[in-house]
Amino acid sequence: MADNTTMEKIVSLAKRRGFIFQGSEIYGGLAGTWDYGPLGVALKNNIKKLWWDTFVDGRSDMYGLDSAILMNEKVWEVSGHTGAGFTDPLIECSKCKKRFREDHLEDTSKCPDAKCKGELGEKRDSNLMFETKVGAQGDTKSYLRPETAQGIFVNFKNILDTMRPKLPFGIAQIGKAFRNEIAPRDFIFRTREFEQMEIEYFVEESTWESEFEKWREQVLKWTDALGLSRENIREYEVPADELAHYSKRTIDFEYNYPGKGFDELLGLAYRTDHDLKSHQEGSGEKMTFTPIEGVPFIPHVIEPSFGVERALMAVLAEAYTEDEMNEDTRVFLKLKPELAPIKVAVFPLMKNKPDLVAKAREVFEELKETIPQIMFDDNGNVGKRYRRQDEIGTPYCITIDFDTLEDNTVTLRDRDTGEQKRIALNALIEALEL
Ligand code: GAP
Repeated sequence: MADNTTMEKIVSLAKRRGFIFQGSEIYGGLAGTWDYGPLGVALKNNIKKLWWDTFVDGRSDMYGLDSAILMNEKVWEVSGHTGAGFTDPLIECSKCKKRFREDHLEDTSKCPDAKCKGELGEKRDSNLMFETKVGAQGDTKSYLRPETAQGIFVNFKNILDTMRPKLPFGIAQIGKAFRNEIAPRDFIFRTREFEQMEIEYFVEESTWESEFEKWREQVLKWTDALGLSRENIREYEVPADELAHYSKRTIDFEYNYPGKGFDELLGLAYRTDHDLKSHQEGSGEKMTFTPIEGVPFIPHVIEPSFGVERALMAVLAEAYTEDEMNEDTRVFLKLKPELAPIKVAVFPLMKNKPDLVAKAREVFEELKETIPQIMFDDNGNVGKRYRRQDEIGTPYCITIDFDTLEDNTVTLRDRDTGEQKRIALNALIEALEL
């Protein structure tokens, strides 16, 4: 991260280069929603793939799931989300009518807008769930899920019956979640529609502390895999009076976001047997695990819960770098190659030389078979193309010139050092550290 990195610079780069746009922009936007452009969706997908590879396919004690966003309304009554446990304290200005989160204000008597300074009203609890109606008559109430976790709990029995796992084991899923946040803010940090990557890891009660510690290590390894430096990661032990209604212990892993400071990146919670027990009572279905020779019991749960957008925001912030190159300030994203939306860019030295363009196209098509996240670029001069690729974090650029036509060698340029070297086409793939 550059010392002078600001959120404004990141937001501007994200928009300029096709990562992230304001949701419904042409109609003035919709607060708390963002759209992901070609590079944003590629980066998001790379983060999600890394997560799935690490925590699902990379382990033998994990089962994947993709449950529905709309669920029976009882799920949310039983889980406690319709009640007081899933609300934020809302406070409204009597003058400008703006709404704020009371717990985010220093002075809860006056409107924080310096131009207004109106009186703030009484605090009231605002439930975070979006309510919706299901069916042609609209007579069935449902909610857009505020966490993916409940889809996992209600499928616990299905996974037990079909996969016959042994304890401890986990169920993982990636999917959209929705919260009617009172004050969406800080770019993609707090939004009303976002994605979660969640694991419910089922354990015996007596082992929860040791399993929690193991997950603590796994979570830190994940932040390493994202390329986040340890000095920008901090653990916050959530005090008892701030714990979510289901949790007995939670550590928030915080990231040092530019211009914002340390704030939540992901959470690790011990949810006890709260959810399975509640669903057993609520549905009448048994939520017990039966050991080979033993008495059935309801497992306890460790929950590492990761936000995709917060990971993406931290990855962008950490990668944002400025240096001096060719007597100019260069902006580049020092992304880990596996996260980079584009791994390699291929250029013909000149756009108006059909032989060069044809050869560059040929190289591009051939490489695309092994490296799908590749780009062909013939706009502007090579220097400008390098800068454009630097800004989107492309680790390598390959230039096809007149020598290529003679001897099948190309110029390979490294994003971080700007170093260029001549390399034979048939040695290219091996030279790329992707
Ligand atoms: N199932 C547990 C759970 O949902 P949470 O701490 O409320 O716990 C988990 O959310 C993660 O989801 C957070 O650490 C954050 O990364 C992400 N998240 C939560 N609310 C968000 C929001 N409004 N906008 C973006 N990400 C959010």
